[in-house]
Order: sequence, then structure tokens, then C-alpha cells
Amino acid sequence: MIVPMQETHIAQIAALEKRCFSDPWSETSVRSELSNPLSFWLVAEEDGKLIGYVGSQSVAPEADVMNLAVAPEWRNKGIGRALMTALIAQLHSRGITALFLEVRVGNTPAQNLYQSLGFVEAGRRPKYYVNPTEDALILRKELTDADTVD
Ligand SMILES: CC(C)(COP(=O)(O)OP(=O)(O)OC[C@H]1O[C@@H](n2cnc3c(N)ncnc32)[C@H](O)[C@@H]1OP(=O)(O)O)[C@@H](O)C(=O)NCCC(=O)NCCS
Repeated sequence: MIVPMQETHIAQIAALEKRCFSDPWSETSVRSELSNPLSFWLVAEEDGKLIGYVGSQSVAPEADVMNLAVAPEWRNKGIGRALMTALIAQLHSRGITALFLEVRVGNTPAQNLYQSLGFVEAGRRPKYYVNPTEDALILRKELTDADTVD
């Protein structure tokens, strides 16, 4: 089940950030997204347990994906794709026409997902990431009526 992020999800998101990223968002940073009018986050739940999330910030008509993660034991089951598809549909319905994100040049699983969703390379940020230092690819996707889901 994919639902908008609520206060009850914050601690689990922060815990999953620590498991998935070498430079994780703090619980305070995640919580601040709840009161940020530019932010829109979705979480995936299974039996009441948080198993993934995706976060975005919008300055219409563009938006950025801030982060996307699926718990390691839940990967390769379509949850990352479902989160991104739901985010794209929600942002499109809110008038967003272009979506951007950064991804590590070495992150093949995420790049495959983004490419299959129609993202294309728009640039590169040298040494954007730390732990370890790595370039970011900037990816962009135009949102169209084809991105609406029923
Ligand atoms: C990237 C991530 C969110 C994908 O989530 P997921 O639920 O496992 O992905 P899905 O099962 O929905 O797979 C969607 C597509 O991603 C790609 N993909 C996923 N895992 C992959 C892997 N291990 N190797 C290659 N491609 C992979 C495939 O294109 C797949 O499509 P397919 O099933 O038709 O082949 C997950 O691997 C993750 O949390 N990684 C760590 C955090 C991270 O890197 N986040 C992205 C930061 S930019």
C-alpha cells in the first residue's frame, strides 16, 4: 500500500535511510519535510511496516526527487517502480511538467529503474556525493498525460 508520509512514518524512514545510504538524512531533516509546503513524500507499507519511500520537492512547474529507497529484503519486487510511478502521477496531477533527480554514476539498479520510466541524462555534477566521493548524473523526465494512473 502506498500512502502519503505522515508523522508516524518518520522514525522508520530515518532508520531505513541509515541502512540504505552512507550519507543519510537525519530524523530531524525528514520530519522538516512534513511541514515544508514544497515537499511531497510517499511511503510503501506492508502489514503496517514501512518498506520503502520516495521524497520530492516542487517549485512548479518542476520538481526534484530527493530520495528513493526500498528495504533490502523487499527489493526486486516492483516496490521502487510502484513508488516512482505513484509519485510521478501525483506530481503530474498537481501541474508538474518536468521531474529531475541525481543518481550516483555507479548506481546501476537505480539508473535502470529511472531509464525504464523515461528519465534521460541532462547533465553531470562532478564529486556531488561523499562516502565515497562520486559524480552524480542529473536525470530529467517530462511528465505527460501518459503519466496519469487511474
Ligand atoms: C533503486 C531501488 C530503489 C530499486 O527498488 P526496487 O524495489 O528493488 O526496484 P524494482 O523491483 O521496482 O525494480 C525496478 C527496476 O529497477 C531496476 N533494478 C532493480 N534492481 C536492480 C538490480 N539489482 N540490478 C539491475 N537493475 C535493477 C530494473 O530495471 C527493474 O526493472 P525490472 O524488474 O523490469 O527489471 C533499490 O535498489 C534501493 O533502495 N537501492 C538503495 C537506495 C538507492 O540507491 N536509491 C536510489 C538513489 S538515486
